[in-house]
Amino acid sequence: MVKLANVFVCQSCGSVHGKWAGRCDACGGWNTLVEEVPELGPGQSKPSRKNRGRGIQFTGLQGDSAPLPRYQTGIAEFDRVCGGGIVPGSALLVGGDPGIGKSTLMLQAAAKLALTGKSVIYISGEESIDQVRSRAARLGLAEAPLQLAAETSLGPIIDALKSTRPDLVIMDSMQTLWTENLSAAPGTVAQVRACAQELTRFAKKYGTAVVLIGHVTKDGQIAGPRVVEHMVDAVLYFEGDRAHQFRILRGVKNRFGPTDEIGVFEMGERGLAEVPNPSSLFLDGCENGTIGSAVFAGMEGTRPVLTEIQALIAPSPLGTPRRAVVGWDGGRLAMVMAVLEARCGISFAGKDVYLNVAGGLKISEPAADLAVAAALISSAFDQPLPPKTVVFGEIALSGTIRQVSRTTARLKEAQKLGFNHAMIAAGENDHPAKSQVEYTIAKIGKLGDLVRRFEAPSPDA
Ligand code: TYD
Ligand code: MG
Repeated sequence: MVKLANVFVCQSCGSVHGKWAGRCDACGGWNTLVEEVPELGPGQSKPSRKNRGRGIQFTGLQGDSAPLPRYQTGIAEFDRVCGGGIVPGSALLVGGDPGIGKSTLMLQAAAKLALTGKSVIYISGEESIDQVRSRAARLGLAEAPLQLAAETSLGPIIDALKSTRPDLVIMDSMQTLWTENLSAAPGTVAQVRACAQELTRFAKKYGTAVVLIGHVTKDGQIAGPRVVEHMVDAVLYFEGDRAHQFRILRGVKNRFGPTDEIGVFEMGERGLAEVPNPSSLFLDGCENGTIGSAVFAGMEGTRPVLTEIQALIAPSPLGTPRRAVVGWDGGRLAMVMAVLEARCGISFAGKDVYLNVAGGLKISEPAADLAVAAALISSAFDQPLPPKTVVFGEIALSGTIRQVSRTTARLKEAQKLGFNHAMIAAGENDHPAKSQVEYTIAKIGKLGDLVRRFEAPSPDA
């Protein structure tokens, strides 16, 4: 067969060039040309005779489809984020910052799965066999019948996988892989994409589940996991603050299950331990009214999680006061502050505002608006919220508090952790029956109502 010369394709306009250039002639974009291997040989450019005239069968939505089989690792937090386990023949991407614990997590999951009798291969392109072995020994998993290899060249890997046909293969990491079809260096967009595509195709064809580990990179020449997100069936991100012990595994895409699920782990001496009740971890004894602190009952996927939101308002020595946010959206904080200024007359002029979500969790729900406002007002008035109070609700620009979904689940979780007072949007009637839940629920219609509770503490506070 004639070997085709590789081509360079502009990533923004799609034009094809014979050689690399810094600027695409067609669209003028800089640094957009990426080397690619042409897919079709010269004789294959036309549809093959065999396929011509072959009809396809259409079917209806109803039919007998067997439920998806799943490989369960026994690490419940991991299995749940995958949607109940890893689906055979699927491709999974596990991304995260370097050093966050991706290799540790996947080694634990792989070893646990191997112990259940599945054939599992762990290919490391970053560490030597000895390093992986000593880590497994530290994790207490040295006995697991896991097959190891240290290899980075895709050709031999695929050949070996084709002959062994394992149930699961872990590739740590995709940025170390390279295929000799491309002259680009390992870790470049072209190499990462070509290798991920090849492995995904292998997964579909042979029914082997493939896990690709990818480092998140801030910038530079190394391609991040984003470039392969669209190819794989599920994308999980492993996040956390290296200064904190716990880590969050977050599902951001899943073709076989729900997304937005989180799994919580704690990194310790012997690897990652599951945290089945994250609320107690994130709260850490802040139930009893501290100034500038509010407990938010949020939802992470299908799970309610309680977190503490802390605010501090301090006189600013700067001409432009500082607004610093950790764990929440800065734009949203500006909006809540603007509503407090415009509708409730609380001025932040000349004051620094700091907002922190305790424990390193990142919150993206608008339902946290009311809790943020409560923490800010508490700091502004130098008064704590009533003890054992949870807060949630979305704030509209008019200052009206809007209802949020899953009120019952949020309140139940709070009750389980000993909270007996809630501040929620007016009109919420979706809460557990009075008889079984000892709750006093303060219904807040407008943000001004919340402010007035601080000016004159309410009778039920
Ligand atoms: P690692 O899994 O190598 O991270 P990644 O693959 O995402 O780059 O984990 C690295 C960190 O985890 C390292 O700083 C040490 C820490 N660690 C522990 O604290 N306890 C353990 O048992 C293990 C195996 C690692
Ligand atoms: Mg690693």
